[in-house]
Amino acid sequence: MGNINKIQFLTLVEFFYSLFLSHASTMSALSPLDPSSYSRPEIAVVKHTSFSLNVDFEKKVLSGSALITVDVLQDTGEVILDTSNLTIHSIELEDGTPLKYTLGDDLHNYGSKLTIKLPKTEIAGETLKIKIDYASSQTASALQWLEPSQTSGKKHPYLFSQCQPIHARSIIPCQDTPAVKFTYDAEVTAPEEFTVLMSALRGESRSAKATFRQPVPIPAYLLAIAVGVLDSRELGPRSRVWSEKEEIEKSAWEFAETEKYLQAAERLCGPYVWTQYDLLVLPPSFPYGGMENPCLTFVTPTLLAGDRSLADVLVHEIMHSWTGNLVTNRNFEHFWLNEGFTVFLERKVGASLIDDSAEAKKSRDFHSLLGLQELTEAVTTIGATNPLTQLQVNLKGVHPDDAFSRVPYEKGSLFLRYLEDLVGGPEVFDDFLRSYLNHFARKSLDTDQFKAYLLKYFSDNEKLNAVDWKAWLNTSGMPPVIPDYDTSMTKAITTLLGQINDNHEFKYGDVKVFTPHQIIHLLQELIERPPLSVDSLRSMGQAYKLDTSKNAEIKYRWLRLCIRSKDLDKVPEALDFVNKQGRMKYVRPIYRDLYAWEEVRQQAINNFLENEKYMMHVSAYTVRKDLHLNN
Ligand code: BES
Ligand code: ZN
Repeated sequence: MGNINKIQFLTLVEFFYSLFLSHASTMSALSPLDPSSYSRPEIAVVKHTSFSLNVDFEKKVLSGSALITVDVLQDTGEVILDTSNLTIHSIELEDGTPLKYTLGDDLHNYGSKLTIKLPKTEIAGETLKIKIDYASSQTASALQWLEPSQTSGKKHPYLFSQCQPIHARSIIPCQDTPAVKFTYDAEVTAPEEFTVLMSALRGESRSAKATFRQPVPIPAYLLAIAVGVLDSRELGPRSRVWSEKEEIEKSAWEFAETEKYLQAAERLCGPYVWTQYDLLVLPPSFPYGGMENPCLTFVTPTLLAGDRSLADVLVHEIMHSWTGNLVTNRNFEHFWLNEGFTVFLERKVGASLIDDSAEAKKSRDFHSLLGLQELTEAVTTIGATNPLTQLQVNLKGVHPDDAFSRVPYEKGSLFLRYLEDLVGGPEVFDDFLRSYLNHFARKSLDTDQFKAYLLKYFSDNEKLNAVDWKAWLNTSGMPPVIPDYDTSMTKAITTLLGQINDNHEFKYGDVKVFTPHQIIHLLQELIERPPLSVDSLRSMGQAYKLDTSKNAEIKYRWLRLCIRSKDLDKVPEALDFVNKQGRMKYVRPIYRDLYAWEEVRQQAINNFLENEKYMMHVSAYTVRKDLHLNN
């Protein structure tokens, strides 16, 4: 047995066995219905929560109480909730009876299980109100507390949340699984000059107290709060845009067509049930393009291109009002039901705004081709045999932030397009969509339920026998069928791509008639190809006016091309870009590209380490992994 004796060997075996046991027991503590939550809604389920919270910018904590209304379903004498780094001060019944509780071990990234013991066990069928006094921690993963220097006004701090996928538990004790939906109301105090916004309808705000109510049941991941010194403008009869005053005019202009999009969405999906649709333009460190917080979509300021060309993100978030917010994935293994449907609807509604139906079809297919490019890149990056490229994924032991990619978005939307074509096109499929939305409204579902509903709806349509469900849902890599998209809008790009090489004479005339999205398509194709020489790339940048583009989608791809061609002069600009905004869609690939270029790798790592403290939790967490900094 080489250098180790039998006893040492047995100790090692014991050691690994104990590791295995502790891992197995903590993992099995997670819910059988949701591998990302401890909660057990089948035992007792939260129906409503009343918050009373105070925002403390000095201490960087949210504190106060959550009064939860719980329906008891089984006589186990327990209510089980998710928490992450919460300090629990007390738990009691509404009448003041203190309740015993235990807080389980903190499982990295998942938080701790909060088990509340009920006073008596035989109470299935009863409804209880339980008051939890608590405070969040300074490092709550759902929150970013910004210093004044990170805001446009530079004078006041700012707070915003991002709860999806499973960070709500770091700001409220809750059943942090999208299988559970609850209504909420809230009372929030913040210093005088601040505006508090939440994912809910605003009540009258008297003095420093803001009040809210969300009468439509929502999953915990749709809870949201933002606190800052804000301004707002009316956009339409049910919409306002909020931002710091420095961005308010630009924001009001960029999103002026919100009501038009809402109406187009309603024509396809039925009435908008959330009453108000407001937008909040966040500070640049916001990690996503948009987040569909009900009544108040959060968006990145990188959408402010000055030409409304990035409105597809707004349409996307609007469509979540139906798919995601009304009809919700049961857990994040079925995330494609949220995002794939939303992308699918986003493209339909986007095209419906074009009067000429032939042009509308071309535009829809063009945007689908842009999506196909993104899917191809995602599958290449993650790896075609990686199970995370399946439509339905297994998240046991995998944090949903680590599983996040474009795959559920694009493979999901492509699957729906395939089904639409198969059953006879939009005339047939649109009615199915409305029926699906109606049937599952205010519910959560999984992929099997979707499949069963589809098959039942189309039970006399034999075409569906052709669907290879396993290939679509449970096989990794690219989808089994790629629709025959109309290529009218990519023809000129394909021709130009055929000419581009290191001998090409780049001139503005090459791209003069291209829309911003056609430029994006061109650049995305070039990213997938062997790099051009630095000289060619520089003349391309000048001729195509890429260096001066205000469109973040263009700028992002342009910088990646420069890194891939190893233009050292461009590295400071690339670092500046990732420091000045925190949208992960841009920040992560740029860091990955810089990491792959050995000469600048250390510079990229140093830049990250210096700026990590200004990044939101999820951005820092994922980039850290991209840069292989996990010890
Ligand atoms: N709901 C997502 C954002 C999200 C997903 C946050 C998972 C946390 C976990 C949002 O609707 C979204 O998809 N945003 C996209 C924009 C869109 C046009 C594809 C984004 O941020 O890029
Ligand atoms: Zn989305």
